[in-house]
Amino acid sequence: MVIPQHVAIILDGNGRWAKSKGMPRNYGHVRGAKNLEVICEDAYNMGIKYLTVYLFSTENWKRSKDEVDALMKLFRSYTKTCIKTARDNNMKVRVLGDPTALAPDLQKSLKNLVESSKDNTGLNFQIAINYGSRDEIVRGIRKLAADCRDGQFSPEDITEEMFAGYLDTAGIPDPDLLIRTSGEQRLSNYLMWQLAYTEFYFTEVPWPAFTKEELQKAIEKYNGRERRYGGIKEE
Ligand code: IPE
Ligand code: IPE
Ligand code: MG
Repeated sequence: MVIPQHVAIILDGNGRWAKSKGMPRNYGHVRGAKNLEVICEDAYNMGIKYLTVYLFSTENWKRSKDEVDALMKLFRSYTKTCIKTARDNNMKVRVLGDPTALAPDLQKSLKNLVESSKDNTGLNFQIAINYGSRDEIVRGIRKLAADCRDGQFSPEDITEEMFAGYLDTAGIPDPDLLIRTSGEQRLSNYLMWQLAYTEFYFTEVPWPAFTKEELQKAIEKYNGRERRYGGIKEE
């Protein structure tokens, strides 16, 4: 079986999962964060080299203040735990998204996480937090335009590869497989440039209930697809 090099996940359904158990949404987020640690390890043991997860979108600020506050609190503790797991499991962590809207202490912990794990050689783990694809593209264009204005190159010199280097995912290969849990079949502003030729897998299973077996199922389905452009399907 071919193991996709890069798997991207939209971790969805924490709230609905909690509701189905008669629990508050935030309980779903706590259990979702715990599950992420488990899946991270499973992914690496299965041979996945890059795992990119969507933790908080630029649109998620529109949720109730209570929920946003609870999520930020959870990210604080998650980031601290992740510093330890990155060290123990040799993970290299990168952050996608615009950190400037996050509280200064969270920005600092995220920086610390990235910095302390930068020489690790195991799983490449990307966390998308205050991430939106349109925002990422606009931020990239701003930097590109500034470099152009400063005379580093002219507009005719701009290529797809060059532009990709201005995105938060610079240097990271495009995802081979996208998984979205909990039934919705939309991108919700996730990695729109990077997913141009990615295979999509949707499952009804909500994120807190997503297991290693579910991940294996997604990979089996991926293996049955006839990939185009950049695929790694073996004959
Ligand atoms: C995904 O679960 C986690 C975040 C977006 C932070 P949701 O909170 O979207 O859960 P549902 O989709 O409402 O069930
Ligand atoms: C997408 O899930 C964002 C994350 C998983 C962080 P949402 O639950 O926020 O997406 P929509 O609102 O259903 O599109
Ligand atoms: Mg949702």
